[in-house]
Amino acid sequence: MKIAVLGCGTVGSGVVDILDKKPCLMEKSAGEEIGVKYILDIRDFSGSPYASRIVNDIDIIAEDPEIGVVVETMGGVEPAFTFCKKCLEKGKSVVSSNKALVAAKAQELFAAAKESNASFMFEASVCGGIPVIRTMFSSLSANKILSFHGILNGTTNFILTKMIDEKMSFDTALKIAQEKGYAEKDPTADVDGIDAARKTAILSSIAYGHHFFEDEIHTEGIRGVTLEDAAYADSYNCRIKLLGKADSRNNGKIGAIVCPFFVGNDSMISGVNGVYNAISITGDSIGDVLLYGQGAGKEATASAVVGDVMECVRLKKNEKHYFWENHEDGIVEDYLEYETALYVRGYAKNPGDSLINIREAFGGVKVLERKGAPGNEIAFITPVMKEKELREILSDLKDFASASVIRVL
Ligand code: NDP
Ligand code: HSE
Repeated sequence: MKIAVLGCGTVGSGVVDILDKKPCLMEKSAGEEIGVKYILDIRDFSGSPYASRIVNDIDIIAEDPEIGVVVETMGGVEPAFTFCKKCLEKGKSVVSSNKALVAAKAQELFAAAKESNASFMFEASVCGGIPVIRTMFSSLSANKILSFHGILNGTTNFILTKMIDEKMSFDTALKIAQEKGYAEKDPTADVDGIDAARKTAILSSIAYGHHFFEDEIHTEGIRGVTLEDAAYADSYNCRIKLLGKADSRNNGKIGAIVCPFFVGNDSMISGVNGVYNAISITGDSIGDVLLYGQGAGKEATASAVVGDVMECVRLKKNEKHYFWENHEDGIVEDYLEYETALYVRGYAKNPGDSLINIREAFGGVKVLERKGAPGNEIAFITPVMKEKELREILSDLKDFASASVIRVL
């Protein structure tokens, strides 16, 4: 079967390289010989090994009966959506690594796939090389997914690791992540948590059977995290991690949030560093499952894409459809209703008096210390309460200016 690859950047070139160099893959694909016939890209590939296969017109791919699977690794919603839909309508299966596309348009692509007996797969769209989509959709299908939480973005985990362990500046760490091909074209999506929100939306859609959109998920990135916060986390036996988290709540709603958390060092996730991602899923039958691996990068991500390509080839005669439905308004729980503890760092003119007020207002706090803290700095962990109540108490505190607030997992 012949394949076309749309977008030959970090991930797309990894896919072409694997399919060009690993003939043994054919044995795993029901004896079908798989080869890349076309590569569609807007860049100039003259002189590269890809040059002879470059095309600029999607119709060449969509109209070629020899093409059975189209890989979309361009990124962005458009024209990726139009191209994928067109190929699905022509009966070609589509494999995408593009979370922006899946989080926004999956339902329309599922419908197009179903209509023409093709498949739409997107394993690489969440956590790069980690097989989390198929695991959640198929292997854990006996379970009600009670909750999941995890490090879903490689770039921010790489930056936090470099900042905390090597005292590297945020800008230098981001630059290295970009050079390594981990970051999105616009790295704001990584740094501000948008990429993790897209992934949380996709996983929530699979876990809970309704389409969740990224803008329904309260999202905070890592720009506000400082080395002072990391030192306090350390003093509390925690590390700061950007997590995507969702759970099925007693009132029938779904809680979903993306933000930095203090994660206890007794949790396996706290030891997941660099570009590695990890996701913990709790099912009602299986209990806890932890998946771990590289969340970004050329080869790791291409591994997940090629896995989907081979699945499409295997299923070509017996197609398989992912699907989920719309949800009612208001299904997403307001994050201020969640119970949590907060780490708070701030400043007071009279720290002794302020601490008495703070303890009284929260009904007790755990005061944190760090070397070299200025005399007017106070850091503490609140008791567990609804976040709305904690925020109200915090904003009512007199003579205390908070500088940093991070939820404790
Ligand atoms: P790159 O920017 O490296 O590659 C995308 C390629 O597609 C570039 O060559 C780009 O050209 C080309 N392209 C963009 N728009 C068009 C278009 N309209 N027509 C034809 N070609 C186009 O991105 P990545 O490989 O890093 O990422 C691709 C997708 O995979 C994204 O959705 C990303 O979120 C996702 N992903 C990335 C991972 C990673 O580790 N990098 C991991 C998991 C998923 P130009 O550069 O000129 O725009
Ligand atoms: N930019 C993304 C990340 C790519 O850093 O996790 C993988 O989805």
